[in-house]
Amino acid sequence: MTPIKECLVNKNTNTNPIWLMRQAGRYLPEFRDIRKHNTNFITLCLNSDLSETITLQPIERFNFDAAIIFSDILMVPYGLGQKVEFKKNFGPNLGEIDLNVLSSINELTFSQRLSPIYKLLKNLTKSKKLENKDLIGFVGAPWTLLVYMINKISPKNGLSEIFYNDPGLIDELLRLLDKFIKIHIKNQVNSGATIIQIFDSWAGLIKKDFDKYLYDPTVSLVNYTKELGVPVVCFPRGITDYPKFCEIVKPDMVNIDYNTKPEKLIENIDIPIQGGMDPKILLTDKKKLRYEVLRYLKIFRDHPYVFNLGHGILPETQIDMVDELVKIVREFK
Ligand code: CP3
Repeated sequence: MTPIKECLVNKNTNTNPIWLMRQAGRYLPEFRDIRKHNTNFITLCLNSDLSETITLQPIERFNFDAAIIFSDILMVPYGLGQKVEFKKNFGPNLGEIDLNVLSSINELTFSQRLSPIYKLLKNLTKSKKLENKDLIGFVGAPWTLLVYMINKISPKNGLSEIFYNDPGLIDELLRLLDKFIKIHIKNQVNSGATIIQIFDSWAGLIKKDFDKYLYDPTVSLVNYTKELGVPVVCFPRGITDYPKFCEIVKPDMVNIDYNTKPEKLIENIDIPIQGGMDPKILLTDKKKLRYEVLRYLKIFRDHPYVFNLGHGILPETQIDMVDELVKIVREFK
């Protein structure tokens, strides 16, 4: 059994596996090197060979317990026929929604568009470098994808005023997202993903209709993934009530964000927990890093815990801080 499955399935508390969200990314010089010559991010995600190299980069450097495929949650809107671009120093930028186009996409067309991702997974399952490690596939949660599809850009400065203006559009998009996210999960599992993580990065923006936007769509995906026989991890970033989320959604593991107080949680959550530490700690110094990492490891000493961050690793992070982080986690008894 892999170290993460020991934790997740067997509820073993004697092991603290580690991997990091966004571990395949811009803090790695070897990633930046490839990115320099590949200016179109979507094309890069659809290049199975380069994506394989990038997925394995953090494994080779840090020997993490899981590889997460180099891809993006916005590949689903792309597969549905919405234009998706990434602008330098700006982030994602999506095109107008044409419901006629989106509604006419069938499973075959969608799967063909995203087939390099499934090829990437198939190739990775053959890699010797992933022996006794998990291979994590992922999707964006319906709410977070709805946010990007309607808002068109990152909602870091809030949702656009017209976000809720067209309830018919929202309902139709949620219906399409449920259907096609499931297809994307199924294809990833059939191609070798051993765990699925659902990223709901903007769950914290939901202020009303929690059933409609958060619970119902996530329960639907979690139940579907469980039926496929693969553990599912949820990351509802920014929500205020993680225990309630776990009770309703029942994922196999929950990834907490860095605003969540871990010591309170273990009393109220009985499923394995992942993550939590503020990625900004990696921008400080080794003393502060050791203190924070040990704080999390001690709090979760008697609780199944996978070390990870409370959001993706920042591009400014220095490699030697990640080396130190891995060392501290591995040496902890
Ligand atoms: O975790 C990993 O290493 C696997 C790869 C991965 C990427 N994106 C690669 C990427 C994963 C799991 C994602 C998920 C993702 N993508 C999320 C959910 C997690 C989160 O961060 O909240 C979201 C919201 C996105 C959408 C997205 N993609 C944004 C907002 C951006 C640009 C800004 C940013 O923070 O990087 C991307 C681009 C992106 N996705 C990059 C990478 C390595 C950077 C591309 C580059 O400019 O080189």
